[in-house]
Amino acid sequence: MRSVVTGLGACLPKRIVSNDDLAKMLDTSDEWIIQRTGIRQRHIAGEHEPTSVLGLRAAEAALADAGLTSAEIDLIIVATATPDYTFPSVATQIQAGLGMTHGAAFDVQAVCSGFVFAIATADKFLLSGSHKRALVIGAETFSKLLDWTDRSTCVLFGDGAGAIVLEAREATGTVADRGVLTTQLRSDGRHREKLYVDGGPSTTQTTGHLRMAGREVFRHAVGMVNDIVNASFSATGITGADLDWFVPHQANRRIIEASADKLGIAREKVVITVDLHGNTSAASIPLALATARDDGRIKQGDLVMIEAMGGGFTWASALIRW
Ligand code: UT7
Repeated sequence: MRSVVTGLGACLPKRIVSNDDLAKMLDTSDEWIIQRTGIRQRHIAGEHEPTSVLGLRAAEAALADAGLTSAEIDLIIVATATPDYTFPSVATQIQAGLGMTHGAAFDVQAVCSGFVFAIATADKFLLSGSHKRALVIGAETFSKLLDWTDRSTCVLFGDGAGAIVLEAREATGTVADRGVLTTQLRSDGRHREKLYVDGGPSTTQTTGHLRMAGREVFRHAVGMVNDIVNASFSATGITGADLDWFVPHQANRRIIEASADKLGIAREKVVITVDLHGNTSAASIPLALATARDDGRIKQGDLVMIEAMGGGFTWASALIRW
């Protein structure tokens, strides 16, 4: 069996905030942000657009794309670090929003790597035979976690959601199969202080704000991306030259391009949306997938490598034949 992607959908809040808009409230500039990160704008959620609402819209779009109703889904996994509430999970709220009272729904938390961790989790459920069709959603409202007086972090992030439908289908067991061909996950909790939120229910009883030692994270990022994409290459015998598309987590254009160059992936195969969305954490990969599918780049049968690294640290990759 393979877990095949049969639907894809995305949702971005309407409000767009440009670098120039930020320069009106902070000591920053369009030039600095573009040069250091590649970001030109980000979408910011409104008062009535919590993570579950963005995730629900993306899930509905993915179901419509797959030609399915929620009655045919039996598993919902949401990757998020910005839940509406400490509990219940965003996944159960989306389940209710879809009118589902069957199946299982839960969140996974691996920050920016969350969508890849969620795909790996769903894939194992589907391959075990316990479930048949999963909605895997990355949904975030990082704007709510930011310290809007800290220019070193608040210019980097945005809000959004993306979702895929994964369906268990019989396969031949070769890399010619459609579906998830391998998933590779890593974590190393010693790096907590480089990227974390300074609050939580069992410490401060507050939500806290995102804190990042940007240069330190940057220093680790390219090596971790390299390590995890090479793990997917080794597991499948695929190389950078074989890929049709490289869809990385969208944190920083410089990290993305340096990683692609090191991995022997041609720049024209790299999907970049950080300019439009900023860093949307677990939503960034499904948003980038939706962008590249909608503009005609990603087509059925294409070999797509996704990867991410983020808080924890966590880092992960998955090779998918679309
Ligand atoms: O998604 C999870 C993974 N996260 C990441 O991958 C993020 C990784 N890190 C990065 O992308 C980069 O480190 C940043 C974009 C966050 C920062 O770029 P950098 O080239 O590492 O800059 P820096 O932090 O070394 O700061 C350089 C200068 C500093 O001034 P001094 O000390 O050189 O005088 C900062 O104070 O830029 C200053 N600075 C700013 N200037 C204008 C920091 N933020 C800003 C800003 N506008 N927004």
